Amino acid sequence: MPADAEALKRLVGEAAAELVENDMVVGLGTGSTANCLIDSLGERVRNGLRFIGIPTSKRSEERARALGITIEGFDRHDRIDLCIDGADEIARGSLHLVKGLGGALLREKIVAAASDRMVVVADESKLVDHLGTHAPVPVEISSFGWESTVRQLAQLGARPTPRRDRDGVLFVTDGGNMIVDCAFAPIEDPPTLEASIRAIVGVFECGLFISRAECALVAGPDGVVRIDR
Ligand code: A5P
Repeated sequence: MPADAEALKRLVGEAAAELVENDMVVGLGTGSTANCLIDSLGERVRNGLRFIGIPTSKRSEERARALGITIEGFDRHDRIDLCIDGADEIARGSLHLVKGLGGALLREKIVAAASDRMVVVADESKLVDHLGTHAPVPVEISSFGWESTVRQLAQLGARPTPRRDRDGVLFVTDGGNMIVDCAFAPIEDPPTLEASIRAIVGVFECGLFISRAECALVAGPDGVVRIDR
């Protein structure tokens, strides 16, 4: 079995692509693992699969379109049958997630919320006992008044860092907003923290995904394991 990270992502991408059936509406995630999923779906479309993709970012949309996947939006669809997306951390047991290091968390959460089922795909390095162990919690905020919003995030116990590109310019999401990466010590109560972050005026969404994933497909040296909530 493949052990390097890229091979594991391809393996889990292929496994998740098998969940898609003809005529489904499918939420397409963002990130390097979701890219592997999209590539595998492109291969299946070349072999006759027909489905509609609703992407969680411009990057995923461009990749999917280039592979011949049909892309539509919420103007055509109220609900999504299945959303498949990556994660930065997956809590064993609860399957609560941290997402958004790729900067797409608001769209990812909108798509997850509209989905009947969400499957998260990852290699085993993403499994943790407590969220916040390795990854900060990304928070998407309004660029107006961001300094005030950042101060309020700090009052929740975070060490907040506004995300910048390599040139030091503030990162801008697909929706034109800012991201603040909020480092917490391992998070004991993710649902309460999610509610506290979302209650701050100026916050659009946070990268804690609580009880969204129905199951995780996790690739390791022995293959892909399905973990149910
Ligand atoms: C994108 O905003 C994120 O939520 C990604 O799903 C997450 O960062 C996982 O990305 P990788 O698969 O590249 O690790």
